[in-house]
Amino acid sequence: MRIVLGVGGGIAAYKVASLLRLFTEAGHDVTVIPTEAATRFVGVATWEALSGHPVSNSVFDEVHTVNHVRLGHEAELIVVAPATADLLARAATGQANDLLSNTLLMAGGCPVLMAPAMHTEMWQHPATQANVETLRSRGITVLEPASGRLTGSDSGPGRLPEPEAIFEAALALAGAPPVPATAPLPASDAVLSSAPGPLAGLTVTVSAGGTREPLDPVRFLGNRSSGKQGVALAAAARDAGAKVRLLAAHMDVPPPSGVNVVNVETALELRKAALHAAADSDVIIMAAAVADFRPADVSGTKIKKRDDVADPVISLVRNPDILRELVETRDAASRRQLIVGFAAETGDADGDVLDYAAAKLRRKACDLLVVNHVGQDKVFGEDTNSVVILSRAGSEPQEASGSKSDVAAAVIDRISAELSRVVPPA
Ligand code: C5P
Repeated sequence: MRIVLGVGGGIAAYKVASLLRLFTEAGHDVTVIPTEAATRFVGVATWEALSGHPVSNSVFDEVHTVNHVRLGHEAELIVVAPATADLLARAATGQANDLLSNTLLMAGGCPVLMAPAMHTEMWQHPATQANVETLRSRGITVLEPASGRLTGSDSGPGRLPEPEAIFEAALALAGAPPVPATAPLPASDAVLSSAPGPLAGLTVTVSAGGTREPLDPVRFLGNRSSGKQGVALAAAARDAGAKVRLLAAHMDVPPPSGVNVVNVETALELRKAALHAAADSDVIIMAAAVADFRPADVSGTKIKKRDDVADPVISLVRNPDILRELVETRDAASRRQLIVGFAAETGDADGDVLDYAAAKLRRKACDLLVVNHVGQDKVFGEDTNSVVILSRAGSEPQEASGSKSDVAAAVIDRISAELSRVVPPA
């Protein structure tokens, strides 16, 4: 479930880090929106690290993704904790002066739960009580604060309910079981342990699917990637004993169980997630189809057909090459990390597929390049694949074909072989 977690500017913000953990460990995809004041208590880096998503409190950040519209539209559940007196007042009067209040206004039909925390006098003040009543009359669930010791020497009603209580109330409100009935998708590395196998003890990050680059709130530029090959690679790495993190752009297939899923939409989001994940990854496999270009301008409102103005012309700007950047970052940090790229190539009169692929391998400077011969096989959406694995170290090109799981197993075997060549087992 896509959850927006709004964090108000109160000392109880620190407890909300545990609430976020409960949501992500239950497999939910959480975007955190702290208020400006909340970031004085808990910094953006904490929210980004725990959620795996970029975090902002300004409507002017990531304008190209139309964040202030998108987050509210896409949310299946919004939880605000701690809901301060100020935040309750702003929500009750429909203000839109930061990203969180905008998101609350844009939340169409999704359930909203607010968990207040403040000093007893503030909570009991008629203004706050009137705001709570207004919000409840609009269908928003406002929890009663717990009673007990408050920040200073005072005690009484005004404490933030415990994270577990908010978690259960929120999931019950959204109609989701507190513990997913199917195999959970652990979102925290802490709950993933490696099994025995050639990649035991290693962390592998795999990107999969196709990015979507927004044009306006309803349209995007996408591609035909199904995510099947990336998902097969994530499953194969898991089966080889690795802790696996899947950076999932748009996919037609569900992620495998037992891997840590980070959902991304655009190339820029994928870049941020990949650079973040790279910090503790032993292997990175960039199987995602990343849009090379994105619309230069993203309209905040739906682009209309109009007879009185010319039809729109879309100009594009280039997206960063994430694979190249990962290699550069690794080399700058002298980190030991194996980076694998994918390429779809065609031959022509000037060279065959392998010539072009070898040139790409030199350009991208990754360790292995898995090459699909486009035109010979239909790759997108198919259940089978046929590839050649090229190595920068110069070993012989290796062919692999069969189901996408067979190809994934061959790529993972090759990765294990490269790793044992670079770092001989003790
Ligand atoms: O340049 P080309 O798109 O053919 O390269 C494909 C490889 O580069 C894939 O591994 C893909 O995930 C990665 N890529 C990237 N960032 C881009 C475009 C492609 O990381 N902007």
